[in-house]
Amino acid sequence: MTAENISTIQNLHQFDGQTATLQGWVQNIRSSKSLIFVIMRDGSGLCQCIVSKADVADEVWEQAGTLTQESSLRIKGNIRKDDRSVSGYELHVQELEIIQIAQDYPITPKEHGVEFLMENRHLWLRSQRQWAAMRVRNRIIFAIHEFFQQQGFVQLDAPIFTGNAAEGTTNLFETDYFDQKAYLSQSGQLYGEAMALAHGKIYTFGPTFRAEKSKTRRHLTEFWMVEPEMAFYDLKMNMDLAEDMVVFIVEAVLRDCRSELETLGRDITKLEQVKKPFPRITYTEAVELLSGDKTKELLDTMERENKQALESISKEIPELEAEHGQAKKGRKFQIDRRLKLLRAQREEAEENLRNLPVWRKSALETKWGDDFGGSDETLLTMHFDRPIMVHGYPAEIKAFYMKRDPNDDRVALGVDVLAPEGYGEMIGGAQREDDLETLRTRIAEHELDESVFSWYLDLRRFGTVPHSGFGLGLERTVAWICGLSHVRETIPFPRMLGRLTP
Ligand code: 4AD
Ligand code: MG
Repeated sequence: MTAENISTIQNLHQFDGQTATLQGWVQNIRSSKSLIFVIMRDGSGLCQCIVSKADVADEVWEQAGTLTQESSLRIKGNIRKDDRSVSGYELHVQELEIIQIAQDYPITPKEHGVEFLMENRHLWLRSQRQWAAMRVRNRIIFAIHEFFQQQGFVQLDAPIFTGNAAEGTTNLFETDYFDQKAYLSQSGQLYGEAMALAHGKIYTFGPTFRAEKSKTRRHLTEFWMVEPEMAFYDLKMNMDLAEDMVVFIVEAVLRDCRSELETLGRDITKLEQVKKPFPRITYTEAVELLSGDKTKELLDTMERENKQALESISKEIPELEAEHGQAKKGRKFQIDRRLKLLRAQREEAEENLRNLPVWRKSALETKWGDDFGGSDETLLTMHFDRPIMVHGYPAEIKAFYMKRDPNDDRVALGVDVLAPEGYGEMIGGAQREDDLETLRTRIAEHELDESVFSWYLDLRRFGTVPHSGFGLGLERTVAWICGLSHVRETIPFPRMLGRLTP
């Protein structure tokens, strides 16, 4: 086969009415007596390719008949606009070149359990939803760079091997560094502060490691964090920047990833509400809201709605199951799809009803000084339609480097940004303690070894200035924007408790 006009599916519009060649994989295949429909994937998109027995050489028809899911090939044919096609274009096949016929691809269009899919993550990445999520991830990363570069920030990298803890000592990954103890970076922040005093406004963007023993939807042991750090910024300026960045990211995704969001079934109207200003509430106000009547009402409503949902699902499922036996092929297919959805919804409602009493107790008993748990954050955000900024946390529960509120020594000038729809914390940030002696006291109070922080203390010895910064967790942001329930689907190869392969 002569491969001329090689195109990607994304660029097929350039070949409307002409002959072009696509190279890729068989995502799906369907055939009848005289037609074979190949859904081809090339990484940039999906395209329906039609092989018509009447129009191709016998040999091409025969070859097309041997194609299987995930076989690799080149296809040459005529490109025609078709609004019903996934890419907006169809390819009417003239020639085929099979590179490999794939045998028994393990991930079939039927349902698979998530553990099986995680074991096959290296292949699962090819399926449509995973592909869409990774495209959104890429757009978010690019938006982050655009946002900071446009504002004169310099990207500088922090080391991954470090000699000191940045975010507490309980979740450090320890490694052997030529007979010396080293830790994998928990945050680039401390180095970011040094670089901000050299460059004014910087951001680091790199892998981050936390030996989190918790198996939750929000925790990875290896994740990516973007951490801006700015000289001469106070907490308010820091919060303004975080807000602008989140709005910028969401706008970019809404503009450029419409079809990916559609593939993911994301409710776009929820993202369209992400506008300035984000509600800003103090930690004290958050505690009052969480333990007060409005949360009680919210919990009551959730309980009622979940019970109602469960009741109607439990009625519909046996009805559909009974109908299934006599149904014709088309209707059977419909029933199967509906049953799949209903069973997933039933599972979710049951899980919610199991969790609600625990959530209720945790939320309603919150007292000043407590840290918020995952469910507390979820409930808090459910009172609002956009991200919220909670600031002024008790210093006791926050990191050693946070500056205290000059008006209330119990309070740290820290901020968390909580994503809506129950996603919870996606940003943590603060104004930094800039006074040498105060910072030394904090290091001692946190029982940290001052000697490993001597370079960090130099930043307060030589031209200290007020400064602030924050860290945005990339995977939590991807989960929220894509509407994914677990961070394991937001990174190509997740690392979590109990998962090191593939
Ligand atoms: O709140 P954290 O721990 O803040 C810091 O590390 C600061 N040093 C950042 C700074 O001020 N420069 O983490 C920041 C964000 C969290 O809000 C969350 O989005 C994400 O990092 N994150 C995790 N994401 C996935 N898995 C985990 N185990 C995470 N731990 C934190
Ligand atoms: Mg935090």
